Amino acid sequence: MNQRLYRCLREAILDGSIAADTRLPASRDLAAELGIARNTVVHVYAQLQAEGYTRSRQGSGTYVADTLPDDYLASGRRKRQASTKPARSSLSERGVRIVEGASASPFQWGAFMPGVPDVTEFPHRKFSRIVSSLWRKPAPELLTYAHGGGLPALREALAQHLALTRSIDCDPEQILLTEGVHQGIDLVARILCEAGDQAWIENPGYWGARSVLQANGIRTVPRAVDEEGMHLPAEPLDAPPRLIFVTPSHQYPLGAVMSLARRRRLLALARQWGSWIIEDDYDSEFRFTGRPIPCLQGLEPDAPVIYLGTFSKTLYPGLRLAYLVLPKSLVGAFQAAHGELYREGHLMTHAAVAIFIAEGHYAAHVRRMRMLYGRRRAMLVNLIERRLGPGWLHRDSSDAGLHLVLDLPADLSDEAVVHAAHARGVLTRPLSRYYDAAPDGGEPPRQGLLLGYACVPEADIARKFEALLESLSEVARRRGKP
Ligand SMILES: Cc1ncc(COP(=O)(O)O)c(C=O)c1O
Repeated sequence: MNQRLYRCLREAILDGSIAADTRLPASRDLAAELGIARNTVVHVYAQLQAEGYTRSRQGSGTYVADTLPDDYLASGRRKRQASTKPARSSLSERGVRIVEGASASPFQWGAFMPGVPDVTEFPHRKFSRIVSSLWRKPAPELLTYAHGGGLPALREALAQHLALTRSIDCDPEQILLTEGVHQGIDLVARILCEAGDQAWIENPGYWGARSVLQANGIRTVPRAVDEEGMHLPAEPLDAPPRLIFVTPSHQYPLGAVMSLARRRRLLALARQWGSWIIEDDYDSEFRFTGRPIPCLQGLEPDAPVIYLGTFSKTLYPGLRLAYLVLPKSLVGAFQAAHGELYREGHLMTHAAVAIFIAEGHYAAHVRRMRMLYGRRRAMLVNLIERRLGPGWLHRDSSDAGLHLVLDLPADLSDEAVVHAAHARGVLTRPLSRYYDAAPDGGEPPRQGLLLGYACVPEADIARKFEALLESLSEVARRRGKP
């Protein structure tokens, strides 16, 4: 199928450029106009129909569906009115790749949006008391440009907290505070890689890491994952990767925990090849049964690991506060580059979070949220098992994190279910989008749904799940039609 034609038509339908009930050109005419094979257009039309964007009417062609969700259409109209979109030709090739590959969702709140913590539970009174006391008489050095990796008080508090909770072995100087994990990956790519270098990424994996690496000219190589984490080669390699990006405590998005044997082998290979491992430990504070999984960084002394952590899941994503834990040999270079590229700041926020941790509020909040999310997860799992059956929960969905993965039958389009669910006010993300398009010798993209439970009040879970089931049935019924 021609992805570009598919995306163009889909976007035009979503943003209202092609109004509901409009008849699409006959496949023969469109193919002739675009100079492409008629079959290509036929496939694109079939895909749009399978996903519910169009309907075919016997003998009279293909029409844009008139049942698209209103908020899709409205948000499209808003987008169009405010459009300051530069012509595609004015973008760099890199710009086009970034824009065309973009996967971040504009929807970030509501059942079952994955990866979103319950921000309504954030203890804002305690936090605002700390913030107000800091603003009563702000120290001038907290309001200027910063330098050196972020406020020392926060890096000290974090080093202690990480040693206790994540078995991280570091001095506070090894911590560098960033505006989110993406900035940390960007810094690693710029400082440690040349354009054209290879980075191994998990497949399926975190699209954000893939986008940031690719934007830096790095060739991402998808590696299949199984119940022990990323597949590693048994044979020697001619061209080993410069970077290896992994989520060993909770594989994103499927959920496996990397086995100890695989961790040891990964570390040994990275040492042998001179590669750097990027360990993204994005949500491991939330493990509901068993003991916390120690991180890769602390497994061996002087491990070739750059650890990424974030406050997005434990406090709130809008805070934009994350951190790198660097090997000692990289600290000076990263501090200098960070100050040079991004002009550090946000020291008042660092100071507030440092006090929040030091006074014990952080650990207490994480503990409380762990219990809350554990209950919500159990409710959702119970519903899945009762209403669909146990085979639907992905086999690696471990008892942790803010989301789980629901497996769909291979012939049920996850994009279509996401679309149908949205029309019923339910947000989810399609698993197939988390796969890299490049062939990696692994399994083809699975169809599935990422369901976030952390931000859904218990009182809403069952009702929203029923709406999701209706969407599944609707898509299954449509699939049944010739
Ligand atoms: C696997 C993974 N890593 C990192 C992040 C992003 O962290 P941050 O909000 O700090 O950029 C996310 C966000 O959803 C994620 O899913």
